[in-house]
Amino acid sequence: MSMDTAPTISQAFATKFGGAPDLIVRAPGRINLIGEHVDYNQGLVLPAAITFYTTLALRLRPDEKIHLHSLDYDQTYETTLAALSPSGLHWPDYLLGVADQMQRDGKALHGFEVTFGGDVPVGAGLSSSASVECATALALDHALGLGYERMALAQLCQRAENQFVGVNCGLMDQFASLFGQPHKLMLLDCRSLAYRYIPFETDDIRIVLLDTRVKHSLGSSEYNTRRAQCEEGIRLVQAHYPEVRSLREATEAQLKTCVAPADALVYRRCSFVVAEIARVEATCLALEQGDFAVVGQLMYQTHQGLSQDYEVSCPELDFLVEAVRGRAGVWGARMMGGGFGGCTINLVQADAVANLVYEVSLAYQAQFGQPLGSYVAEIGNGAELIKN
Ligand code: GLA
Repeated sequence: MSMDTAPTISQAFATKFGGAPDLIVRAPGRINLIGEHVDYNQGLVLPAAITFYTTLALRLRPDEKIHLHSLDYDQTYETTLAALSPSGLHWPDYLLGVADQMQRDGKALHGFEVTFGGDVPVGAGLSSSASVECATALALDHALGLGYERMALAQLCQRAENQFVGVNCGLMDQFASLFGQPHKLMLLDCRSLAYRYIPFETDDIRIVLLDTRVKHSLGSSEYNTRRAQCEEGIRLVQAHYPEVRSLREATEAQLKTCVAPADALVYRRCSFVVAEIARVEATCLALEQGDFAVVGQLMYQTHQGLSQDYEVSCPELDFLVEAVRGRAGVWGARMMGGGFGGCTINLVQADAVANLVYEVSLAYQAQFGQPLGSYVAEIGNGAELIKN
């Protein structure tokens, strides 16, 4: 669906189910300036919501039935509250997982009908799945008056993805989709859940996303493997330093003595995480000083670490980072999100964007034989009710 407006989704709802929905919500995708693969290590992340949304219309039913309609896939799926289990279709699971978690919380749900669609590019590392979860959670919370706090909703959506979809993701994407504010990055401490907004308001710098349009299939299994490797690293550190509860609290020196001799691969993974958490702090300082040269260098360092040490990049992403490095008007670039495809995030002077996209698109097409996607990300609001 290219238009995310309430009338479009209302019409689609009426065509599918007849009548009007009880309410319409929308929830955005996200970017992350820096702090990759650290949310599940209790680290710091720096995401923002972007103005691409999942829009969802919902009406409660008097019975236990759940009818889901995806506009973008042009598919429907039906089940009941008593029979919630993974659908085998993938897209319904992001909605069903949320209802499942609410039931596990002891909430009394009703059946419901949903039509949803959106313009968050799927598989681009912009968290379209989190936006579907958050839209569903906000809609059910409103419709049933469940009274969840936003942070509790974010955590509920994360559990839905962990337990129902089977990806052991951290909290960043769901947090960003629910807490975004226009022109602001969010520094989230994934250990304490404290967060603060950091203005990102520059007239002349754009956040450009270059989309490889590939999604290598090993993505989610490798993601869970990385998470397990981090946990293994912590176990090794704890043998000598029992007080260290997560990689957030570990030091490079501890990793060198406890992890490196036992497992060189796990050491490289953990060493990246510890360095990446420090880079988030350094980025915040540089942003306060308006020093985009430093921010950009930190982004390149992150890419290097994700590619060489954490090994979640791919040839297409590496190519895009190399293609912009050193170009006039480019401050920094790196792969973004879980990896194995999706987008790079680039900080670019406004007047250099058009040429950059044009030239890199040609080079990408020549190298990989397929077109590059590109978006200029605007930082927008988190999930909201747009009609009831
Ligand atoms: C995915 C996950 C997030 C986070 C990033 C990597 O987007 O859903 O929780 O771990 O990857 O930073």
